Amino acid sequence: MKSLKPRILRFESLPSTNTELARQASEGAGEGLSILADEQTAGRGRLQRAWSSPRGAGLYFSILLQPAIAPDRWPLIVFVAALAVGDALSEACGVDTDIKWPNDLLSGERKICGILAESVETPTGRAVIVGIGINLTAEAYPAEIAAVATSVAEASGRPPERETLLAALLRALPRWYSLLHEDDGAGKIVAAWTSRSSYAEGKAVQVANGDEVWQGITRGLESDGALRLETTDGIKIVRAGDVSVRPRIEE
Ligand code: BTN
Repeated sequence: MKSLKPRILRFESLPSTNTELARQASEGAGEGLSILADEQTAGRGRLQRAWSSPRGAGLYFSILLQPAIAPDRWPLIVFVAALAVGDALSEACGVDTDIKWPNDLLSGERKICGILAESVETPTGRAVIVGIGINLTAEAYPAEIAAVATSVAEASGRPPERETLLAALLRALPRWYSLLHEDDGAGKIVAAWTSRSSYAEGKAVQVANGDEVWQGITRGLESDGALRLETTDGIKIVRAGDVSVRPRIEE
């Protein structure tokens, strides 16, 4: 049984907790090393986007994982993180969340948390850095995305407690991570993710990946977490991309 024991390094300010952890991992830091920053000056999101990270407005956290699992299970690491954040938001803040494929946490259809997983070579082999950004207050995100973003303060109606949320996250992550290492763990993780996501089945969505855009109805997940999308050309297996609810066609 793999047991994850997070150890936290705290910083007032960093360009990016993922970047700092990648540096430390390449110098031999071990699994479980985690970095928390009060602010990030160059926070990074998926698909080369910036992640706004003003001081005290968000939880900016990264953890180093070196799972002992078959390569086809590695994509499920982000599902482990999404499930753990969902538990932590529920336990610590009373906020229920939906998951948008692959790993955006939504509250009231607006994004409250983003997850960025990056693989890194370390002296002991390949590892992955999982970066988690949770909006604590509305100051975390730029005003121009207010229609599609939210925060713990807005969703819970009370002041966010970063440390309580962090403690809940540090309890939840090892639980799901350990499940990933069990023989039937992959199936259980995909099932748990599916049960918590309104995007898993029967949702009309658009998926954009670079210049490519597909439209279709979601039809569940493959065992490695890829999204099955029913398009007019048949089932397409989506392994990367940005999912949005399909724009309504005006009649
Ligand atoms: C996304 O685009 O949804 C992913 C956002 C991930 C943001 C977090 S904040 C902590 C860690 N450090 C970073 O630079 N990014 C991640």
